Amino acid sequence: MDPPKKICIVGSGNWGSAIAKIIGVNAAVNPKFNTTVNMWVFEEMVNGRKLSDIINTHHENVKYLPGCKLPANVLAVPDLLEAASDSDVLVFVVPHQFIIKVCDTIKGKVKKEALGVSLIKGVDTSTDGLKLISGIIREKLGIAVAVLMGANIANEVAEENFCETTIGCRNQEHGALLKELMQNQNFRITVVSECDVVEICGALKNVVAVGAGFSDGLGFGDNTKAAVIRLGLMEMIAFARIFCTAGPVSPATFLESCGVADLITTCYGGRNHRVAKAFVTAGKSIEELEKEMLNGQKLQGPVTAAEIHHILQHKNLLDKFPLFTAVYRICYQGQSIKHFISCLQNHPEHM
Ligand SMILES: NC(=O)c1ccc[n+]([C@@H]2O[C@H](COP(=O)([O-])OP(=O)(O)OC[C@H]3O[C@@H](n4cnc5c(N)ncnc54)[C@H](O)[C@@H]3O)[C@@H](O)[C@H]2O)c1
Repeated sequence: MDPPKKICIVGSGNWGSAIAKIIGVNAAVNPKFNTTVNMWVFEEMVNGRKLSDIINTHHENVKYLPGCKLPANVLAVPDLLEAASDSDVLVFVVPHQFIIKVCDTIKGKVKKEALGVSLIKGVDTSTDGLKLISGIIREKLGIAVAVLMGANIANEVAEENFCETTIGCRNQEHGALLKELMQNQNFRITVVSECDVVEICGALKNVVAVGAGFSDGLGFGDNTKAAVIRLGLMEMIAFARIFCTAGPVSPATFLESCGVADLITTCYGGRNHRVAKAFVTAGKSIEELEKEMLNGQKLQGPVTAAEIHHILQHKNLLDKFPLFTAVYRICYQGQSIKHFISCLQNHPEHM
C-alpha cells in the first residue's frame, strides 16, 4: 500500500476552517491519509493572542468560524512553506486576491506529483485576459489541480446540515481520491469532468448574488429576485460558452450543485447578497460595509464584477451582459441603484 498522503489546507478563513473539520475527521479514520492535517493560518493577533496558538490550544478558529470545534488532528501552521512543502494533497481555500502571493511563496518547493484542489471562487485578470484560479495554481506550481464548488455556505456545512457539492476534475483517479478525502454523510460530492465550467460557475454566482441583494434592498419581492437569478444564470452560461474553450460546456453541468444550487443559496443566504442589500438600504460604500459587516472576511462579488467587466469591455461584449455590467457600475462607478431594474427590463433575453 502507498504511504499515507499528507494533506495541507492552504487557508483558514470561514470556508477553510469548515472544510478542515470534514477533512480532519476523514483523515483520522482513513489509512490512505496521514492523520495530522496541516492548515496554513495567515497569522494575526486575536485578543492579544496568535490565532494559530488559539486554534492549536482550543481547536476552534474563534475569528473565522466561532463556535465550531475542529478535530484535534488539524494542526494550525503559520509558516506556509512548512505547512505545504511535503504535502501530497494541497487544498487551496484563500480569498482569490491572495492566491498569486501564496503560489509565489511555495513555487518550486512543493512535491511535483502533489495534487491540488481549489475551493476558491473568483477569477484573475491581473495579467492578459481571464485566468481561472486553478490555472494560476497549475501554471505556478506545475501540479495537477481540480476544483470543488457548490451550494456550501461554510457555517451551514460546519453545522453538518445536509448539502451537495461538485468536484470538477479531468482525471478520474484524482477525482475519486478527492471525493474520499472530503465526502461524508452530510456533504455529498458529485465528480464531473468539466472543471473549467464548474469553476466559472463558482466565480460568477457571486456577481449575481450582488444583483439579488440589490433587488431585495430595493424592496422588490421574490418574483424579481427569481428573474435576477434566471437572467444571471443565462449570463453565466453565455460567459462560460465564450471563455471555457478548452472543452465542452454542457447544460447538465449548470444543473449540478456548482451551478443552479450554488446560485440559489448565494442569492438567499450568502455574504455578497447581505452586503449588497445593505448597500442599497444603508447608503454606505461597499468597502465600508465589508469592514463593518464581515469581521475580516472578504467579499468576492464586487471584485469579481470588476474583473469580469475589465474582460468584457476589452472584448466589446458589455451589451451582452447587462446584469454583470450593472453590478460593476453600481458598485464602483457611482451609477444609481435605480438603473438596476432597467438593465433587466432591457435585457437581450427579452428583445
Ligand atoms: N465562506 C463560505 O461560505 C465559502 C463557501 C464556499 C467557497 N468560499 C470561497 O472560499 C475562499 C476562501 O474564503 P473563506 O470564507 O474561507 O475566507 P474568509 O473571507 O472567511 O477569510 C479571509 C481569510 O483571508 C486571510 N487573509 C487575510 N489577509 C491575507 C493575506 N494578505 N494573505 C493571505 N490570506 C489572508 C484571513 O486570514 C482569512 O483566513 C473564497 O474564494 C470564497 O469565495 C467561501
